Amino acid sequence: MLDRIDHIGVAVSDLESAISLYGDILGMPLVHRETIETQGVEAVMLGVGDQHVELMRPLEEDSPVGRFIASRGDGLHHVAYAVGDISAALQRLKDSGVELIDAEPRPGMLGSQIAFLHPESTGRVLIELVQPAGDH
Ligand code: CO
Repeated sequence: MLDRIDHIGVAVSDLESAISLYGDILGMPLVHRETIETQGVEAVMLGVGDQHVELMRPLEEDSPVGRFIASRGDGLHHVAYAVGDISAALQRLKDSGVELIDAEPRPGMLGSQIAFLHPESTGRVLIELVQPAGDH
């Protein structure tokens, strides 16, 4: 069902210093930057091999990532796995008793479709499914 790890999501309160760390110091190329209003974040993707690290800065405190940072601080937020058919994957997980945050896919970065699984069902690790647009 899962094709590969697509990206690791990191919650940051200061996007520019995070870009400096991952881009300038760790040497990862910045491949995309986008404000995703539906998720309440400004996000960038940096490349590492065939995968990415997603840095997310909340647009406001009262948003999922804003509340995450308020309670836990900056840090690892989610692991995203690529799937070929996100609707089929969600149905299969639901049938297996996995609690979903997103019952239906919603728009992600770069024209992708994404959905989050509830961490109560996944060992307290927030898992995102990504169906890339085309082949990324
Ligand atoms: Co993500």
